[in-house]
Amino acid sequence: MIRQLDNVFVLDTKNTTYCFRVMDSGHLEHLYYGKRIAIYSASDAIALFEKQAFSSGSSNVYSEQYPTLTLENVRLEMSSYGKGDIREPFVEITHSDGSTTCDFIYRSSVIFEGKTPLDTMPSSYEDNGTVHGLTLTLYDAEYGITLELVYSAFEDRDVITRSARLTNNSDRNIRLTRLMSAQLDFEDNGYVFTTFNGNWAREMYRHDHLVNMGKHVNSTYAGTSSSRANPFVMLSRPSTTEDTGLCYGINLIYSGNHYECVDVGAWGKSRFLTGINPASFDFLVAPGESFESPEAVMTVSEDGYNGMSRRMHAFVRECIVRGEWKKKSRPVLLNSWEASYFDINESKLLRLAKEGKDVGIELFVMDDGWFGNRKDDKRSLGDWYVNEKKLPGGIERLAKKINELGLDFGIWVEPEMVNVDSDLYRAHPEWVIDIPDKPHSEGRNQRILDLANPAVVDHLISEMSKIFSCANIAYVKWDMNRIFSDYYSKYLPSERQGEVSHRYILGLYRLMRTLTERFPKILFEGCASGGNRFDLGILSYFPQIWASDDTDAIYRVKGQTGYSYGYPMSTVTAHVSACPNHQTLRVTPIATRFDVAAFGVLGYECNLCDMNAEDLKAIKLQIALYKEWRDVLQYGTFYRGRSGNLYEWTCVSEDGKRAVGMILQVLSEPNSAFTQYFPKGLLPEARYHFYNFERKVRIKPFGDLVNMISPIHIKQDSLIHNIVDKFVKMPGEVEDYVTSGGVLMSGVKLKGAFAGTGYDENTRFFSDFSSRMYFMESETE
Ligand code: DGJ
Repeated sequence: MIRQLDNVFVLDTKNTTYCFRVMDSGHLEHLYYGKRIAIYSASDAIALFEKQAFSSGSSNVYSEQYPTLTLENVRLEMSSYGKGDIREPFVEITHSDGSTTCDFIYRSSVIFEGKTPLDTMPSSYEDNGTVHGLTLTLYDAEYGITLELVYSAFEDRDVITRSARLTNNSDRNIRLTRLMSAQLDFEDNGYVFTTFNGNWAREMYRHDHLVNMGKHVNSTYAGTSSSRANPFVMLSRPSTTEDTGLCYGINLIYSGNHYECVDVGAWGKSRFLTGINPASFDFLVAPGESFESPEAVMTVSEDGYNGMSRRMHAFVRECIVRGEWKKKSRPVLLNSWEASYFDINESKLLRLAKEGKDVGIELFVMDDGWFGNRKDDKRSLGDWYVNEKKLPGGIERLAKKINELGLDFGIWVEPEMVNVDSDLYRAHPEWVIDIPDKPHSEGRNQRILDLANPAVVDHLISEMSKIFSCANIAYVKWDMNRIFSDYYSKYLPSERQGEVSHRYILGLYRLMRTLTERFPKILFEGCASGGNRFDLGILSYFPQIWASDDTDAIYRVKGQTGYSYGYPMSTVTAHVSACPNHQTLRVTPIATRFDVAAFGVLGYECNLCDMNAEDLKAIKLQIALYKEWRDVLQYGTFYRGRSGNLYEWTCVSEDGKRAVGMILQVLSEPNSAFTQYFPKGLLPEARYHFYNFERKVRIKPFGDLVNMISPIHIKQDSLIHNIVDKFVKMPGEVEDYVTSGGVLMSGVKLKGAFAGTGYDENTRFFSDFSSRMYFMESETE
């Protein structure tokens, strides 16, 4: 519910309140954002107002009329330079006279029901709940510029979204150099600003920054939302834990250069901003034109990081992801990339698909290498016609044969890119982002097509439409494998070059929107060298994203934990791959690879044709198990437990009656046999059957300890050792309890791990990189 009480605006959701007021000067003072509080009348909010009786040394006062108002010491809903506030601004404009001072004063407001979409970018929506909207109009009378602040209160989701629209009502051009999406000012400092940073193959590592004074910035200039700095961030207190304490979660529905900042000013007040990165951003807004900023999504919880994540997950699932696949079970796929990289052909792919079918795969995906003369990453991007040598009957024949095996067929594309060695580049060198007659800095031997140019977007719509309709294509992996350099659009005049990065994203959104509307049944998966563009903009069109090119389970458990703070598991795709792992050369048990991948949207990416019978048997059981628990794993409520050397995850069905848990240990500790697993989210009163599936234990990992039980001496790694390893398996521990959710959540004491002093069927074989999955089913009707 949104209310205007005189000069006070109160935005309530079920459990949270957001509140601000119009000051006498016409500026907007932020008053509160947190758990729901009762504000019955405007006077109730006076206790929250800033009280300034005297001006302060070395600070400016706003005006003669307001001789004690120091904007630098007020929590503001939006801020700008020039009138005393020298903290990070919300908006920056260079006017036609060269000045950069702005002063936006409140004019009017409209409260309305429902959610209005943004005009130029994807935004959130609501089908199953109530949304209240508020638009405030501010005006800079000196320069004739209107600024609208748009708020939406998602009542049932405990989410507030914000965006802004600036209109040039003057008769002169202005240059907009910054327009943020949301600003949150706090009275105090000492917030922990959590960001998720990384690089290729190590995305989403969590970093906590305690900001007492000064500024911390999380931003990217990659041109994509990037693996360097994901737009999802958190603000919390040093005492916040996974399940207790204050936590704000903030994300941006945007896929390009973004900027999040915590700035602590001279009075110790903290300011948080999120929006398009102002670095090199310079948008010419002509008289009568408008510019809108992307929508920011904010939630707050007093139940720790998990409490915040639960709200964010539900919001992303319900109000960001859309279309046919929004709530549909996602198929278990087999991808050809790590099985054969570029070296693919029809018979190879069919052999792989056949193996896949035998173990229970549902969708076969042909990755890179099928088009033009694509034998490596140096050529052919842009030439979207099939390589007849590799696929003599074209995509159509291959897809048909895959379908005949009983599998769906999917394909890989990278529409936004072109190699210089391609027919497309030879025909249209003017279609790429590079600076005419200047050397270009290349990435993965490819250039970025200029999506700021509508003709390029039209071309891609037509090329992709031909591919997506040429056969029975059920799935598309949409890749994007380089970051930007040499920003320059030959389509735009020189005075508009500061618009390239944003106009690229607008072109990309038109491309994605048109194709997803034209092919509503296709399951699209986003990818950018893994997680180089994992954001809410992409998720507004594609329901799932390839989280990382790193399929190593020990990286993945950390990376997927990182993603889990802001994104539901139904959006995170995860594959079981070969060992040693292709990115880290680490050797991990196939069970661990599965346990980690199963908590996302599961797939396989390895050469099943070369796998031994034992692994194939294990995979078959894994897939069968995943299918049984897929609804919980993909759409259940996700809870993090411990993270670090031991990771602990639990997923619980909506009704609380079924749950899957996992623990994973990175390195084993000597003589530390006893571990508890703490499930979360169970119904405390309900009785559950808690169990695991026995995993037989091989002999070889015990090395020459085999001689402790062998009647004859066995030399380690000898032929006989290998034969014994093949045929003799030791029992694995079984955990089986029936008890209440309350008892389980207080910590299930697991059977002791091997600690160097003996092994039997009640010992947990739990060496480095080991994991376990536990299942919980309520018997209560
Ligand atoms: C990068 C992706 O992340 C990989 O999964 C694979 O599709 C390659 N590109 C193909 O070039």
